[in-house]
Amino acid sequence: MARILLGVSGGIAAYKALELVRLATKAGHAVRVVQTPTSERFVGRASFAALTGAPVLVSEFERDPARGAFPDQTPPEHDPLSHLELVRNADCYLIAPATAHTLAKLAHGLADNLLTSAALAAACPVAVAPAMNDQMWQHPATRANLALLRERGVTVLEPGTGALGSKGEWGTGRLREPADLLAAVEALVPHGAPRPLDGLRVLVTAGGTREPIDSVRYVGNRSSGRMGFALADEAARRGARVTCLAANVGLDRNPVVEYVDVETAAQLAEATGARFDDCDVLLMAAAVADYRPAHALDEKIKKGAVQRLELELERTEDVLAGLAGRRRPDQVLVGFAAEHGQGGLERARGKLADKRLDAVVLNDVSRGDIGFDAGENEVTILTAAGETGVPRSSKAEVAAAILDAVAQLRGREEYNSQDGAVGPPGTRRRR
Ligand code: CTP
Repeated sequence: MARILLGVSGGIAAYKALELVRLATKAGHAVRVVQTPTSERFVGRASFAALTGAPVLVSEFERDPARGAFPDQTPPEHDPLSHLELVRNADCYLIAPATAHTLAKLAHGLADNLLTSAALAAACPVAVAPAMNDQMWQHPATRANLALLRERGVTVLEPGTGALGSKGEWGTGRLREPADLLAAVEALVPHGAPRPLDGLRVLVTAGGTREPIDSVRYVGNRSSGRMGFALADEAARRGARVTCLAANVGLDRNPVVEYVDVETAAQLAEATGARFDDCDVLLMAAAVADYRPAHALDEKIKKGAVQRLELELERTEDVLAGLAGRRRPDQVLVGFAAEHGQGGLERARGKLADKRLDAVVLNDVSRGDIGFDAGENEVTILTAAGETGVPRSSKAEVAAAILDAVAQLRGREEYNSQDGAVGPPGTRRRR
């Protein structure tokens, strides 16, 4: 059970906040709601009051009959200041929907209503669930405001893509589904026992890159992104702050993970390069093209009279090897090796050394029942200390095994990458 303070700002998605409150109270949480004046144009406070069983506040200057207490608490004798008392009592402050305007105010520390004043006074975890038109979502001002909020530790529960509130509009900006929001909030509330990856920043790459041949065709691969997404989910569940660089992945997204979409190997290289220094762990699960068409055309190639068409391919950069070359000793780098049958283990061990990695996750792509686009996988995790076989299991379980290995690598006394060289255990140096 948690005490959740919900801030509702003025957008059409405010109606979804009612469902969120219904789910939260049904799950046993104590909920208080504060609204912005504009949000009352979309949903009246009587609805939230009925669902929470507690008064709903809009202004700093109105008296709170519950004196800042949550439904499971006894109100104090005195009349405390609502914007201070509500966040003091809350385990988590979620602002959903968060409009572009409210995000801007939060980013710049404005405290012009009860919702924003409470945010400024909050010592508990704060999460925002943006919802807006996609042009507003893409606007550089909104991007910059979100970046500022993230920097300060606010969790951004990314909106989804699909039909938007206003009739006929489609794009990114839909408020996350209420059940997703609740799950995200529950994950944010401290549960007492620390989680194994609390405070760590994990960068995951997922999916498969596509290298354009012309304006409509590409050279791609069969990676679905399932393994990378499972890793992102599991790392977030263990307390890490996760950024997932998604190369052409069409799977459902976890609201507590930050996703950045890329298409090509070059874009993936740029996106990882920009975030690598800030991460503690890199999980390089994406299938990155080793070659791309040397001359991609801006237009669609017409078949015309040509019977044979030759495609000249050039090498792409090895993203992981490039990053490993500039790594810090305290970072953990995990590569993935897709190998065909016999000799795979030796080749994967070679990659561990050549690419200067801490671990390589090997899977056998000659098997059709596991790996690419399958729900299950069977892998061997190689580190300098040896090999761990993970029997055939769901990608979520494989992700858990990989993160166990990461935890072990982070906890190790010996470290092998101060000079970037990886050698047999006997040659490793102490940190
Ligand atoms: N990788 C990368 N950049 C590339 C190619 C691969 O960062 N251009 C990363 C992958 O994300 C993966 C690992 O390197 O973590 C795979 O290593 P690689 O040596 O490329 O193996 P494969 O492509 O599986 O096999 P091959 O030996 O045939 O190249």
